[in-house]
Amino acid sequence: MSIWRVQGGYPLDGSLTIQGAKNAVLPVLAAAILTGSEVELTNVPRLRDVEASLNILRHLGCAVGRQDDVVRLDSRNMTGCAIGRELTGQMRSSVIFLGAILARCGQVRIAMPGGCELGPRPIDLHLAAMKALGADVSLEDGQILCRTDGLTGGHIHLALPSVGATENAMIAACGAKGATVITGAAKEPEIVELQGFLRALGADITGAGTDTVAVRGFTPVRQVGWRVMPDRIAAATMLCACACAGGDVELRGLDPAHVQSVSDALGRMGADVHTGSRRLRIKCAGRLQGGGTIVTEPYPGFPTDAQPLLMAASLKADGVTVFEETIFSDRYRQGVEMTRLGAKVAIAGRRAVVTGVEHLHGASLTAEDLRGGASLIIAGLGAEGETTVFDRGHVARGYEGLDRALNALGAHIDFTE
Ligand code: UD1
Repeated sequence: MSIWRVQGGYPLDGSLTIQGAKNAVLPVLAAAILTGSEVELTNVPRLRDVEASLNILRHLGCAVGRQDDVVRLDSRNMTGCAIGRELTGQMRSSVIFLGAILARCGQVRIAMPGGCELGPRPIDLHLAAMKALGADVSLEDGQILCRTDGLTGGHIHLALPSVGATENAMIAACGAKGATVITGAAKEPEIVELQGFLRALGADITGAGTDTVAVRGFTPVRQVGWRVMPDRIAAATMLCACACAGGDVELRGLDPAHVQSVSDALGRMGADVHTGSRRLRIKCAGRLQGGGTIVTEPYPGFPTDAQPLLMAASLKADGVTVFEETIFSDRYRQGVEMTRLGAKVAIAGRRAVVTGVEHLHGASLTAEDLRGGASLIIAGLGAEGETTVFDRGHVARGYEGLDRALNALGAHIDFTE
């Protein structure tokens, strides 16, 4: 059990560089096994989910080396095509290996994925994508089995713009003979990043960032270098942290457009936000205003991952902020915990109404998931006295040294693992 002890009442001041993106590097790590190329990735964040992916790659027989933010991968001698529950249970994104292993080996056996409890997280769209490329798919004792004598390009229509299913479809299609068109695709920046990496590997792929992605062919490249994009949700976390604590913070090395829905929401609440080239500065003095209605939506709408973070920022705002969560059915667990700080959060199904209060007081809280856990830590920055967050390792899945990053800006957080 990790414990975060947050002393509230210290404004944040200074600048920081945003870490590499968890949700971008995980599909890139899976896609790296498509061929026997040697891949060197830089700006790879030190996260539990990244370590879990590297362990899966080692288990499959890949040579994996890591030095600081550089990861070197060699899948030439990859032998395995099965991943058991002890490895997949650690994170939802393990399912992203489905398309990659199937494309490389012609068969895959993978235990059902774990990950954050945000309501049911089916994988029907991932499986339908594999079927559309000609794979036989079955489920057996909590394991997914897919096999093929050779994937064939085809039309994959995603009834929902699932990020993971779009990524799995793109990766598997690179191993198929003939062209594939994916319609109803997710448009998140991480999809554009994956397209860039697949191109570097040798794929002829276009359309990422729109709802139609086309894969026309693949000519493997031997050696590939790739720099992981900055993490827009880590950036959103720092923006909301500044809104909770007050202060003046500059974020560097990010694409401000990727967090625009979040910075716009904070701007409407009265934060002073300045956008530069690959930097963003936020100043928060005094009480923010209520945020109106925030509806989570696929990109470029307001991200569901930032919903708990903006909720933390709204707890002390003057007025009401209404959240409508359209992506996941059970993503307000942090709201219940926040009431222990003296916050007013009323939850009814997919809607949560926050009525801002003038003061929050420290309390003992439990992190129930990754972003919810981070939201409790940043809420503690704005509470009087000490807030303790008990966390079964959720936060370390997605943040590299969140305590160090915030303390460098003037926060007082003591973290024990
Ligand atoms: C990714 C992100 C996660 C983010 C989410 C939504 C990664 C590693 N994780 O998760 O941080 O919260 O996007 O932006 O990138 N669905 C189905 N069937 C499927 C797949 C999904 O019904 O086969 C539903 C899900 O239950 C959910 C919605 O589609 O309600 C969105 O899920 P999806 O976009 O797939 O999320 P992930 O890729 O798991």
